[in-house]
Amino acid sequence: MTFQPYLEAISKQIQNTAYGEQPAELYEPIRYIMSLGGKRLRPLLTVLSTNLFIDDWQKSLNPAIAVEVFHNFTLMHDDIMDQAPLRRGKPTVHEKWNANTAILSGDVMLVNAYELLLDVEPAQLPRVIKRFNRTAAEVCEGQQLDMNFETRTDVSQEEYIGMIRLKTSVLLGFAMELGGIIAGANTATTQLLYDAGVNMGLGFQLKDDLLDVYGDPEKFGKQVGGDIMANKKTFMLIEALLLAEGETKQKLNKWLSLEPGTYDTAAKVAAITEIYTQLGIDKIAQTMADDYFAKGFEALENLPVSSERKRPMIEFAEFLVGRES
Ligand code: IPE
Ligand code: IPE
Ligand code: MG
Ligand code: MG
Ligand code: MG
Repeated sequence: MTFQPYLEAISKQIQNTAYGEQPAELYEPIRYIMSLGGKRLRPLLTVLSTNLFIDDWQKSLNPAIAVEVFHNFTLMHDDIMDQAPLRRGKPTVHEKWNANTAILSGDVMLVNAYELLLDVEPAQLPRVIKRFNRTAAEVCEGQQLDMNFETRTDVSQEEYIGMIRLKTSVLLGFAMELGGIIAGANTATTQLLYDAGVNMGLGFQLKDDLLDVYGDPEKFGKQVGGDIMANKKTFMLIEALLLAEGETKQKLNKWLSLEPGTYDTAAKVAAITEIYTQLGIDKIAQTMADDYFAKGFEALENLPVSSERKRPMIEFAEFLVGRES
């Protein structure tokens, strides 16, 4: 894999990053979540984007880590919001410690992210901060919509795509744009990078929703069925509400209307998964994810650099398409 050396450099840089020391209760959860690994896809997208244009891709290492720290901060808070017990195969921070710890450690991670982001050329800093701020606000907007949608039953596919664009895709777009800015790419090119990241991000979140239902718990590292338990309005659930008829429709609506705590969650996950499979929704969602990934590849193809230079980025994008974790 041609992206391996970049991944190793990122892992090493993360190990060497200091988040703070005292009180230990504040900083220990940060070291915990950051050491659990994950795919490190956002920092990879940043350094691979820099590497498209200049040899000195190490220049973007700290800003790349900033994006990863920001991502992990959103995960820490997202796991409270989603009542998720597992992250990367280990207990979530609010389970291992408590919700207050996860809130405050997450808050200081956002500060850590800004600190790391300062490591760009001073002339680039205002643009970088402005773009980061916009992106970070959009992620929060997407997260709020995701929560709002839990209690609605009339969410459209357009609304769903708008929501995942905000909560997930814009950060992948920014990660790539950032790498381009640091390398001195022109604005038409950084826009192409952003578009590539956003489209891959849409495919990526669609795939995340699929794995939340059909993933192998060992590989996925998160609780399979969590989205079904929370009535998350994923592409799959919205499609099921559109396609189901008769008895199937009644069954689906019944499971969605039950009050939390009044039913067996495993039975709900099994029943709704079966409905998805019966309706062929796994295949429809996979096709949709593939379509967005294809748009991402198209943007990558249009980048004005040699195919030789694009190879690590293309190989990494291919890895993302086939991921199981
Ligand atoms: C999880 O992101 C949150 C989503 C946007 C789906 P990742 O799947 O990138 O999580 P890690 O960092 O690899 O664990
Ligand atoms: C998370 O979406 C997006 C953000 C953290 C901003 P999910 O809630 O689907 O992410 P996972 O599945 O918990 O990783
Ligand atoms: Mg969530
Ligand atoms: Mg979640
Ligand atoms: Mg998910």
